Amino acid sequence: MKIGVLTSGGDSPGMNAALRAVVRRGIVQGHQVYGIRRGYYGLIDENFKPLALGAADVGEIMDRGGSILESLRCPEFLREEEQRRAAEALRTAGFDGLVVIGGDGSLRGAWALARHGIPVAGIPATIDNDVAGTSIAIGVDTALNTIVECLRRIRDTASSQERAFVVETMGRESGYLALMSGLAGGAEAILIPEVEPDLDQVVEAIVAGYRRGKRHAIIVVAEGVFPNAAQRVAAYIKEKTDLQVRVTVLGHVQRGGAPTAFDRILASRLGAAAVDALAAGKANVLVGLQRDEVTLTPLEEVAGKRKRLDLELYKLAQALSR
Ligand code: ADP
Ligand code: F6P
Repeated sequence: MKIGVLTSGGDSPGMNAALRAVVRRGIVQGHQVYGIRRGYYGLIDENFKPLALGAADVGEIMDRGGSILESLRCPEFLREEEQRRAAEALRTAGFDGLVVIGGDGSLRGAWALARHGIPVAGIPATIDNDVAGTSIAIGVDTALNTIVECLRRIRDTASSQERAFVVETMGRESGYLALMSGLAGGAEAILIPEVEPDLDQVVEAIVAGYRRGKRHAIIVVAEGVFPNAAQRVAAYIKEKTDLQVRVTVLGHVQRGGAPTAFDRILASRLGAAAVDALAAGKANVLVGLQRDEVTLTPLEEVAGKRKRLDLELYKLAQALSR
């Protein structure tokens, strides 16, 4: 088979490890594997030039964050005519299948190509962990560990100054990173887009904490809770208390860095399984991980469907934050 592979959307640590697995599994099985650069831009480019990839081309990339193929967002690809043009370019170049490594939006793009007749396998890679059909996406574990390490550092200085810190994580529509890092980092309060924010409750919780003898308060806020989320929460706490409040917006440090062992292993499993799925004629699927098993779910069922956050964990974090 002639198989194309691209990375698209918000990059996530482990995309390179997934690419490596696709290339090497493909080569071992006797396929030709081609990298398509710059996300969906690479498909709609007038000079469509996929790069033939050999085993050595993906050497020493497993531990690098980002994507060596680049992972641009391509708004033009939302247009049906561009999707048709991309499918045509792939057919003309003789591709038998395409592996798309990316988040929720990129997988919708993959489903669009499938509808235009291209056999596609999607691999979930996004730090947001909002892709349905997999319990975890590539990059989530690395981002979470980065945030938890940042919270630990912030706590050192917060306790030494008796300060309250509002820490903003990524997640425009998904509270996964804020919730899980808050739980793992022992935050005093967590605000996520999935739960109506109650700032008075946050103030009460942190004031009660100080009364019980705490020397700091860490409030983890997902960026999607409000516009300027952390600043707004900090201003409210300042208005209602005498606490010294500081804000840390973690930003894109959460997206970079060497993938954890978990992400490398996940990426290796899903990358290899994507090639296996295409070779077995099981196309137009999301290759995910559920109950520690690699699973194939029709793209049609997952594209555009958001994965729901387990709000029991939100209650647990609240209960343990006292
Ligand atoms: P992510 O894949 O990380 O969720 P985006 O939502 O920005 O990131 O999507 C990445 C790219 O996927 C978009 O720039 C676009 O090229 C493509 N895409 C997103 N949504 C769709 C859609 N509904 N149909 C076709 N392509 C899409
Ligand atoms: O989708 C991944 C993500 O990192 C989101 O958590 C975040 O809201 C967004 O991408 C940031 O996008 P950009 O890199 O375009 O600022």
